[in-house]
Amino acid sequence: MADSWQQLKADCAGCTRCALHEQRHNLVFGVGNEHARVLLVGEGPGEQEDLQGEPFVGPAGKLLDDMLEMIDLDRTKVYIANIVKCRPPRNRDPLFVEQESCAEWLRRQIALLDPAIIICLGRIAAMALIRENFRITREHGAWYTINGRACTAIYHPSALLRDLSKRPETFEDLRGIRQQIRAICPEVYANG
Ligand code: URA
Repeated sequence: MADSWQQLKADCAGCTRCALHEQRHNLVFGVGNEHARVLLVGEGPGEQEDLQGEPFVGPAGKLLDDMLEMIDLDRTKVYIANIVKCRPPRNRDPLFVEQESCAEWLRRQIALLDPAIIICLGRIAAMALIRENFRITREHGAWYTINGRACTAIYHPSALLRDLSKRPETFEDLRGIRQQIRAICPEVYANG
């Protein structure tokens, strides 16, 4: 039978595929427009996300909202998900085995959404979705075609909170993203 968002959410809801489920308060499935042409993928939930069950609702999320606003986007126009759906302890990088265990959920989200553009937020998402040896410092803002989709990576908002010197480069990357959206899926900007 064809997959659906409802089916996927039900399948994912009680996931116990890796040890991260043991300490979670909430699984963080994803949020946004289920018909979006643009998908943003972060790394994994932090403390606030774990408590609230929604991606990017802590300080990094506030900055992400500002970044979206800079290019005339908001959460109603995009979909936001993470590589892993449960918070890694003390916000450590998700282990490869945890990413692998969780991969089916994002794979099915991508298949249902069928986005034209995927934006990786940070190194972990870029290594999982673009190339295993992706170097965020050298390759942020560059565009790759992966399975027919235009993909790029920018610095993770948490990195931009820690290191203000990365912000001008990220502003350029955001401008590049707006250009690509206008070229590939102008309908994103068509209705206001
Ligand atoms: N950082 C992420 O990568 N994802 C979130 O949902 C929150 C913070």
